[in-house]
Amino acid sequence: MSTATILDGKAIADETIARVAGETAALAARGVTPGLATVLVGEDPASQAYVASKGRAAKSCGFHSEQHTLPDATREADLLALVEKLNRDPKIHGILVQLPLPKAIDAARVLEAIDPRKDVDGFHPINVGLLSIGEMARALVPCTPAGAMIMLDKACAALGTSLAGKEAVVIGRSNIVGKPMAQLLLQRHCTVTIAHSRTRTLPAVARRADVLVAAVGQPEMVRGDWVKPGAIVVDVGINRVPGEGLDAAGKPKTRLVGDVAYAEAAEVAGAITPVPGGVGRMTVAMLMANTLEAARRAAG
Ligand code: GUN
Repeated sequence: MSTATILDGKAIADETIARVAGETAALAARGVTPGLATVLVGEDPASQAYVASKGRAAKSCGFHSEQHTLPDATREADLLALVEKLNRDPKIHGILVQLPLPKAIDAARVLEAIDPRKDVDGFHPINVGLLSIGEMARALVPCTPAGAMIMLDKACAALGTSLAGKEAVVIGRSNIVGKPMAQLLLQRHCTVTIAHSRTRTLPAVARRADVLVAAVGQPEMVRGDWVKPGAIVVDVGINRVPGEGLDAAGKPKTRLVGDVAYAEAAEVAGAITPVPGGVGRMTVAMLMANTLEAARRAAG
């Protein structure tokens, strides 16, 4: 029977949102209301759902929130003009351009046009650089790895341990998760390995980890026998796979799984994040925390 501590992303995200809402009220009493602008280009249903949930969370925190929805055929110059306008708008402290952007638009160019002080995604090269040199008072940190770190702190508290000196293995080297996650673990004094699709003997590398972070986008790739007994397992993957049977509309059912084979890994791990209900819940909460932080810095 599994004895792993299950890390409840919803509870930890709710706690984070409640803290942000409380601190927003205190800041508003000083005349500053955090403002978040989301920008959605096109009609991708998953992106629409993400952007809507970010807007709802912003309202629940007491933020000023605005959504800019542009057609799929938007020209890059027009998107850049909107970003410039939001950069200059004193009501706006955070700008989030939802990815992916249509192919005709150079996403890197758009992300670099965002004022780094309003880059609540933490994707601007200035913020990437500030994170890598540990200038945390000025950096804005990408939301998913920032949320994963909070879950790791909860795991350490539950297990009566700390991150310093631990072997951490991050599977995945994306700019959004893998690389910033590795930087954050390094700052917390872990010995960090970044593994990826070309890593040889990946299961053996994973088995070295006291802290194992999976962010590859491969359903249930990390098996139970890749996990060191007692390890803390953080599953960043959200993959939709075929389920069993048909839904009410007669379509084949689907279900969400992580990058970790949860049932197997939970037999071995000391603590583990589930999917759904794990790290995913933290991403939106950390976006709110980043927007509050950007507003505080702007207010001095
Ligand atoms: N698309 C999927 N995840 C993200 C994210 O964290 N930020 C943005 N801007 N777009 C995304």
